[in-house]
Amino acid sequence: MKNAAAIFIEDINNRIKEYQRDHQLQTTVKTMLNDMIRVKYPYNFFWLGRPIIQLPTDLIAFQEIIWDVKPDLIIETGIAHGGSLMFSASMVAILESCGEIENGHVLGIDIDIRKHNKEAIQSHPLHNKITMFEGSSVSADVIEKVNKFCKNKKKILVFLDSNHTHEHVLAELRVFAPLVSIGSYCIVADTLIEDIEQNLIIDKPWRKGNSPKSAVKEYLKENSDFIIDKYYETKILITGSSDGYLKRVK
Ligand SMILES: C[S@@+](CC[C@H](N)C(=O)[O-])C[C@H]1O[C@@H](n2cnc3c(N)ncnc32)[C@H](O)[C@@H]1O
Repeated sequence: MKNAAAIFIEDINNRIKEYQRDHQLQTTVKTMLNDMIRVKYPYNFFWLGRPIIQLPTDLIAFQEIIWDVKPDLIIETGIAHGGSLMFSASMVAILESCGEIENGHVLGIDIDIRKHNKEAIQSHPLHNKITMFEGSSVSADVIEKVNKFCKNKKKILVFLDSNHTHEHVLAELRVFAPLVSIGSYCIVADTLIEDIEQNLIIDKPWRKGNSPKSAVKEYLKENSDFIIDKYYETKILITGSSDGYLKRVK
């Protein structure tokens, strides 16, 4: 006989299978996402006092993944104001305080860490969980420093959220995805660029065919270590990372 927890999970899985078949729901989600981008909804939020440029539903998915994977290192490209860095730092601090990991840490990389953002991050109570490298995420010196930093880490999770062009994300995937531990994830942000109304993208080089999602598709042709995990995006419905939750399976 199945226990209550197994039944609860089965219910979720059955429900979200229905979501995929629910044409009305999927149409509403698409409209909602376009409108959310139009009104700059992802820019409304803070995590522990730092602005975070994410859809809140994705943060719930990140939390579920981080709790399950229990990474002792989270690498993020794209710091901006430091909100997502703070989110990851708070998650590794919780894992640590629950005795799930030891010495949890977050490594953030950004080509341009603005002075006021750097100061705010460095003076935050969670600063000792965070290391920042300034430089392009795909430059030789940053790659060398990142590889050194990863030595002796038990489980690594990666979040790519910097320059969203196809070329850059593909280059990032080639550098950072191999660092991801088996069973862990490489989460690629803003794959939704491929699917939103293109007139919503203003003053940016990225768009349909030149996006994080097109980079993911190309990377997966050359690398069979990852699968697209549809579970999270399907259940949260509102996501910036459709086809961007990449699970390392070998
Ligand atoms: C969308 S923001 C990051 C948002 C942040 N992850 C959050 O959730 O709050 C993108 C950041 O990527 C940085 N960036 C752009 N090109 C980059 C590159 N080549 N290497 C590293 N960072 C880059 C920008 O400076 C910017 O701060």
